[in-house]
Amino acid sequence: MSEAPSWMRPDPNDPIPAVDLRTDIAHSARVYDYLLGGKDNFPADREAGEKLLADWPGARTAARAARACMHRITRRLAEVHGVRQFLDIGTGIPTAPNLHEIAQEVDPACRVVYVDNDPIVLAHARALLTSTPEGRTAYLDGDLRRPDTILAQPALHTTLDLTRPVALTLINVLHFYPDEEAYPLVERLMQALPSGSFLALTVGTADSAPQEVAYAARRYRDAGIENYQRTRAEVERFFTGLELDEPGVALANRWHPDDGPALDDHEVIAYAGIGRKP
Ligand SMILES: C[S@@+](CC[C@H](N)C(=O)[O-])C[C@H]1O[C@@H](n2cnc3c(N)ncnc32)[C@H](O)[C@@H]1O
Repeated sequence: MSEAPSWMRPDPNDPIPAVDLRTDIAHSARVYDYLLGGKDNFPADREAGEKLLADWPGARTAARAARACMHRITRRLAEVHGVRQFLDIGTGIPTAPNLHEIAQEVDPACRVVYVDNDPIVLAHARALLTSTPEGRTAYLDGDLRRPDTILAQPALHTTLDLTRPVALTLINVLHFYPDEEAYPLVERLMQALPSGSFLALTVGTADSAPQEVAYAARRYRDAGIENYQRTRAEVERFFTGLELDEPGVALANRWHPDDGPALDDHEVIAYAGIGRKP
């Protein structure tokens, strides 16, 4: 890939504006926490969540299905593909089991670096630092839109060995960014990881539930949270140059379902996929 576009490069004179807690406005991590039944949210987040649920009572099921898919993705990466290092960007407010807890169930030596740009996630990061003694976890207050800044963090390098395979997990976060940002960001991050590394995604879509997603998208937008849904082909594009694991890009309910409650397609609003860097 050619040099990263200028907006992607770290620039100390042009930082992304520092975010404060801004509890007066809804924030994606806290609306999601509310939908998952968490307690780390404020009235503006609950109001946005309630408006969404009024239009679409299935929103809570869809959020839980997305989180459950993250569990299966992590387990498959560790169990089937032998991944022992994870870089999880857009981590969200801790909700047990967190990614490291699932990975370390497979091998306690797994190492995980978590990254999020929401100060409330930072405030709860302690819950992500409960590694087994054999493994390690770290939390970086970082921004997906600044991949080179994330990649330059000392804590990343003391936790992960970037000469060995790493799984980059971007779970339920890319739908906040338009194509012109999302594709180059993923490409830049994968470029920094060695052969044998994995990209694991869940990405919002309107394919399965167009009307419900139109409601949800409008509610998020009304609350000041921009969002972009993608078709299956658009999600497959993230895996260009990678070897797609079976069954390819599939709706979250169809991606290696476990024996939990079976969901119909219209109850999920995300595609999932795993790809290996050759
Ligand atoms: C819907 S939550 C998903 C949380 C978690 N990955 C999951 O699936 O349960 C999206 C998360 O991405 C984070 N996020 C959004 N934009 C981000 C960015 N530019 N950099 C880092 N994190 C970001 C939000 O703060 C939020 O915590």
